[in-house]
Amino acid sequence: MKKREVSISFLEYSGIDELPDADRSLVEEAISAAAGSYAPYSHFNVGAAILLDDGMVVRGANVENAAFPSGSCAEKTALSYSVANHHEKKAVAIAIAALTGGELTDQPVPPCGNCRQMLIEEEQRTGHPMKVILAGKSGVTVLANCQSLMPLSFTRSNLAK
Ligand code: THU
Repeated sequence: MKKREVSISFLEYSGIDELPDADRSLVEEAISAAAGSYAPYSHFNVGAAILLDDGMVVRGANVENAAFPSGSCAEKTALSYSVANHHEKKAVAIAIAALTGGELTDQPVPPCGNCRQMLIEEEQRTGHPMKVILAGKSGVTVLANCQSLMPLSFTRSNLAK
């Protein structure tokens, strides 16, 4: 028997203003993307902005449904669009921001488990790390890649016999 440990590291900024310019502008894209949210049930408007390796930014927002599990998170919406329309490009960063009552949440909002799976597989598909920027009014968390969000994720290799 072996005991194994996995550790992750991330940066914590005191707010959006402290971010480097490129990260701040991706966060601003994510905040704008939240305007496209359809969230009549939760009233939690989430926006995601994915930066591709040629500089293009793909936006997504959460889209809810009366049949609750049918809805889509902002990250999944953005990622699905990006893969479906630009699969030859590599995602290099994603910013996520959530608004309640039109205001950015105080604390950063981390992606749910399903979205983490999706983001990790995209990183593996392209072979390129996707930086994660989680923005809140009182703090911004930055991780160097999506895999750090879920160290023991299910992957394609688990399907192999
Ligand atoms: N949601 C996202 O879009 N992304 C997240 O990272 C967390 C949750 C959405 C799903 C649902 O529409 C609403 O926020 C409340 O959970």
